[in-house]
Amino acid sequence: MLTGTISSGIVTGFAQDVRAGLTTRGQKELPSKYLYDTVGSALFEVISALPEYGATRADERLLRKHSREIVSGLSSPVLVAELGSGSGKKTRWILEALCRRQRTSYYPIEISATALNMCRRELGDLDAVSIVGFEREYLDGLLEVAARREPGQHILVLFLGSTIGNFDRPAGIRFLHEVRGILVPGDSLLLGTDLEKSVSQLLLAYDDPLGVTAAFNLNLLARINRELGADFDLDQFEHIARFNSEARSIEMHLRSRRSQVVNVAGAEIAVSFSENETIWTESSHKFCLEELFQIAEETNFHCAAQWVDREWAFAESLFTAT
Ligand code: AVI
Repeated sequence: MLTGTISSGIVTGFAQDVRAGLTTRGQKELPSKYLYDTVGSALFEVISALPEYGATRADERLLRKHSREIVSGLSSPVLVAELGSGSGKKTRWILEALCRRQRTSYYPIEISATALNMCRRELGDLDAVSIVGFEREYLDGLLEVAARREPGQHILVLFLGSTIGNFDRPAGIRFLHEVRGILVPGDSLLLGTDLEKSVSQLLLAYDDPLGVTAAFNLNLLARINRELGADFDLDQFEHIARFNSEARSIEMHLRSRRSQVVNVAGAEIAVSFSENETIWTESSHKFCLEELFQIAEETNFHCAAQWVDREWAFAESLFTAT
């Protein structure tokens, strides 16, 4: 198994995004992709093991049980591109199923170098798989993977873990359209989505009693302190999870416990917070099964099959590019 990374030395735009998000009028916001530095990625791994947060385990269970069936519906030969591989644990089942019929090229696409390294360590023992990681934004990476396809080869895009839920719904549709634009008919997208469940279950999943999710959220402020020389006092902010029934999403915020001013030297700003004012750091939208069929049609795919976990409401949907 060949492994490597193609790194673009991305200028992250972190300082510009922090500046824009904390100085806009109205609701302050920070993009959720910045939750995943080395510490944040490690904390997310812990969240995935919490009894209150079932999504990652459900995703993995479905792939473990149904990978053979999933890959049996794919046009061969196929290469695999994964948008946001994380640790790569779940992907093992799909790669093992594919390896039964062909040598497989696997391209994890990640903005987090830490996650790419974890993924290479996790899957490096699969002899019939060559792994080339792309340290890129999703669509840039997918374009590069598509440029490497050989004549007659199809692409299976994996977008697991319900990361699509972290886009607002119109942006999620636009994103899937863009993914589809890079694919050709007969290519496939395996989409993992967390399904609607009770508000109490969701609030516990995103505000666990151990405080791991709180640490995950607060680490974003710690990261701004570390990387942009800011002076956020972490004790003066509190993690909050709230359900937005209109958007059918769970939101994470960081609430200022008092009125205060924070300096972010690397973004050249001083930010005033009033007591109870929040920074919105993430939305996690939940789905119902029928809407996934509609989303497929709307984005020029067809939902060919769906698998649903019994223990934690979560679905894998296999979209075929039409
Ligand atoms: C990565 N993403 C799908 C997770 C989610 O459930 O939205 C991130 C997360 N945030 C808090 N807990 C988990």
